[in-house]
Amino acid sequence: MAAVAELRNISLARGAPSLDIVAVDDLRAAADRAFRSDPNAAFSYGTSAGHTRLVAWIAAKHGVAPEQVVATNGSMQADAFLFQHLVRPGDVVVVEAPTYDRTLLALRKLGADILAIPLEADGIHVEALAQALEAGARPKLAHVIPNFQNPAGCTLSLEKRRRLLELAQRYDFLIFEDDPYVELRFAGDQLPTMLSLDEGGRRVVYASSFSKTVCPGIRVGYLVGSEEVIGAIRKLATQTYISPSMVSQAIVAEFCESGAIERSIETVRRALRERRDATCSALEEELPEARFVVPEGGYFLWVDLPEGSDVERLEKASVERGVSFVKGSDFLLEGGESSLRVAYSGVTPELIREAVTRVASAWRELAGAAA
Ligand SMILES: Cc1ncc(COP(=O)(O)O)c(C=O)c1O
Repeated sequence: MAAVAELRNISLARGAPSLDIVAVDDLRAAADRAFRSDPNAAFSYGTSAGHTRLVAWIAAKHGVAPEQVVATNGSMQADAFLFQHLVRPGDVVVVEAPTYDRTLLALRKLGADILAIPLEADGIHVEALAQALEAGARPKLAHVIPNFQNPAGCTLSLEKRRRLLELAQRYDFLIFEDDPYVELRFAGDQLPTMLSLDEGGRRVVYASSFSKTVCPGIRVGYLVGSEEVIGAIRKLATQTYISPSMVSQAIVAEFCESGAIERSIETVRRALRERRDATCSALEEELPEARFVVPEGGYFLWVDLPEGSDVERLEKASVERGVSFVKGSDFLLEGGESSLRVAYSGVTPELIREAVTRVASAWRELAGAAA
């Protein structure tokens, strides 16, 4: 094995777990059981709703009827269906600033009028949203990543969850609660989903995923919402792919029902906490100029460098030193030039320290050259 100091491809760019925290043996056993016990459900076309037992498991988890669930090929597919169903050119859609880059791309492609509301350490700036609404903005949808946000790592407070629901009710828009990281809390208290706080049951469409708790290659995610919205999305799904991968969903159903998912979540959480700690201490020691909010879970940490830092150049200089990350401006319509996203999910603590040391030395060199 190459010495750590010689490694040329340390990725702080990809929001994915490393293979050592994927429950490969439990997945193999789940596949074996699924293929033996109910081969018909795994190997035939299913319906667009998804694998019946998996849909039932998801419905029970969220305390809703199975008719309110659609299981898809990854939650990205669920997001795409929801946007395709709801968003027409010119429709106003609220997003967090910064937000998941693929959400921005998808909304732009559909011609949405994107209303970006700043993010604070405790989630979207709801009073800035309230002001925009008072001033006449009429969104159809607000996309919010409530837990361990991608890319910023922060979590929406309970007060803000309630306030958002109030605003959605008053101004008649839907909240799209995009929540793939919810199970990955390793500090602090779990907060209720907006889906569960929505008493009328019509203001929230909720998405989550098994990419972060089982593995991304399995490609299983889902949506929960009103029967009306989910029914329309099931129709769209039928037209798109007849049914999602039943092989994948049969394996996930077995993985969930057997309790293997709880063990997997525990393994991932433990590793993420270690990786987050390694990232924070390496940043504090190697790059004390960096500012960041310490995430209580999830995969990501957002780093603000001193104003004037040119992160586009830093990205190139870091790649030359064998380290990649995603620059902040990719997650924003404007700004973010002196920020970056660090994904610590796929890198061991030892490599994290090495990567941060290299980025810090590149930053110092660029800052020195600019001075
Ligand atoms: C906020 C958010 N939504 C959706 C996704 C897509 O996840 P999936 O692998 O389930 O398609 C991601 C993946 O990184 C994400 O961060």
